[in-house]
Amino acid sequence: MTRSRLGLADANSDAQLLHRVIEILSAGLDLDGIAQGVADLITETTATDVCFVHLLDPAGDRLRLRGATAPFDQLARRIELPVGEGVSGWVAAHCEPVVITDNKRADPRYRYIPELRGEEFISMASVPMITRPGDLVGVLNVHTRDRREFTVADVELLSSVAGLMAGAIENASLHSRLAEREEAMERFAEQIVLLQETERRRLAGEIHDGISQRIVSLLFHLSAAADAMAYDPASAAEQIARAQELAAGALDETRHAIAGLRPPVLDDLGLAASLESLARSIPLLHVQVDTVTTNLPEHAQTAVYRIAQEALQNVMKHASAAHVQLRLSAAADAVLLEISDDGVGFDPATTAERAGPAGYGLPGMQQRAELLGGQLTADSTPGRGTVVRLRVPISHEHPG
Ligand SMILES: Nc1ncnc2c1ncn2[C@@H]1O[C@H](COP(=O)(O)OP(=O)(O)O)[C@@H](O)[C@H]1O
Ligand SMILES: [Mg+2]
Repeated sequence: MTRSRLGLADANSDAQLLHRVIEILSAGLDLDGIAQGVADLITETTATDVCFVHLLDPAGDRLRLRGATAPFDQLARRIELPVGEGVSGWVAAHCEPVVITDNKRADPRYRYIPELRGEEFISMASVPMITRPGDLVGVLNVHTRDRREFTVADVELLSSVAGLMAGAIENASLHSRLAEREEAMERFAEQIVLLQETERRRLAGEIHDGISQRIVSLLFHLSAAADAMAYDPASAAEQIARAQELAAGALDETRHAIAGLRPPVLDDLGLAASLESLARSIPLLHVQVDTVTTNLPEHAQTAVYRIAQEALQNVMKHASAAHVQLRLSAAADAVLLEISDDGVGFDPATTAERAGPAGYGLPGMQQRAELLGGQLTADSTPGRGTVVRLRVPISHEHPG
């Protein structure tokens, strides 16, 4: 028994069509290449006049034309349709094929899109592209100028093509998502290195400018004391007293440099009380503080503290504010830090361009936030004050 498989022109069988589809799919093309290749092949090998391949957008609520028979291929990516609208939208929403033999306009599902010149085509079949696990990736349509009956077998064949495409398209988009993620990981690693570099430069600076200079003077006073010891004990004692001061100073500076790595106050008081003490340490500014106890991991506490420190320093340096507020709060899935002032504000768009080196200031705050998987925003309008908001997600994985 011969069945009219989409009116295949010659002795080609369904198997041959499917074989050629597989060839296109395994050519390693991107989504647009696959969509266009299949649209061309279907028009070439079946007795239909045009084929449209609409793919579902990543958000899953719109179909977008990605491949079509010439001259409609010019419209690729330019035609969009919400899921649920038009025949294709209906097919996407219901995951069921639709055949319309004639009088499309009488079908309540039909929506006229002028660019697709529906008036030139009488009959159509539309099938969903569904992967094996049952995910919709798009809709495949064929249209004919002359009236024709699409048989059950026609729809089955189209559905097979659509199913093969669905798998390949899912692979292609998985692949591009993986590539994106890899890129994000690389950026992430770069940021860590950058922050570490900044931290190292700071440490090196503090050791060079403060600590080693004090030690150099310390050595100087010690050898002066050694020289004076025999003939001028009073002067020797004075030199030793100076040396003691310098040793104490160097010790202070060392503590200070180490504290820069992880503020010891965090270990002593925890994040909430540390922020309160930080706020109180800002000279000439009364910061209204409102905190809750959180149980962020240590590295996240350090980052939140550093961000608060930089934000308050910015208020102090730039804002001329009358009121400043620091709030640390906890939501179900995140810890939130908000530092707001009613000062002079700034224009974030123009400030971004003249931002200092990464690792410091606002860009540094942003990087620290990103490293925690969080977000930091600085909202400001000249004359209207500034609000810096940090959101740090809480992971609910329980160790052990
Ligand atoms: N709270 C604020 N009030 C007013 N201006 C601010 C505030 N925070 C930041 N700015 C503006 O944004 C710029 C960038 O801040 P930042 O990246 O911390 O660099 P820096 O503080 O070293 O200038 C500042 O120079 C200042 O103009
Ligand atoms: Mg700053």
